[in-house]
Amino acid sequence: NLERSFIAVKPDGVERGLVGEIVRRFETRGFKILALQLVQPSEELLREHYQDLASKPFFPKLLAYMRSGPVAAFVIQGKGAVKIGRDMLGATNPQDSAPGTIRADFALDIGKNVCHGSDSVESAEREIALWFPAGVASYTRAVD
Ligand code: CMP
Repeated sequence: NLERSFIAVKPDGVERGLVGEIVRRFETRGFKILALQLVQPSEELLREHYQDLASKPFFPKLLAYMRSGPVAAFVIQGKGAVKIGRDMLGATNPQDSAPGTIRADFALDIGKNVCHGSDSVESAEREIALWFPAGVASYTRAVD
């Protein structure tokens, strides 16, 4: 019930001004935004995040793409957050994404697919710990 997922608007999505639209879709679907920040990810963070893809031929391009500008990283919480989050993003390749999904509505190219979402509850918790290492609650800071 309190399932969480990690969602990121990738640098092309931030550059194109899609952060608000993408966050809005998750909010209006009913998910709670637990934490949200703009991140300039290090190569080390990305190697950890994409640990399963290190041997892929596109990996160097993926690293360069993910480091080309800020990423809007956020955590959603709610029933079915991981599966529904993936469903809302659409297939990894925007050419295969169903109409109405974020990737189908905003992307054409697998190498610039606008957003990321965790693919299992286990990877969600791993990715949340990686991108929000101080713990989700501490990213809501008191400001005076
Ligand atoms: P994501 O859901 O973040 O997970 C892995 C990422 O690798 C994927 O989105 C794409 O951005 C990228 N990716 C997967 N396959 C390819 C490919 N064939 N060419 C370029 N990038 C890819």
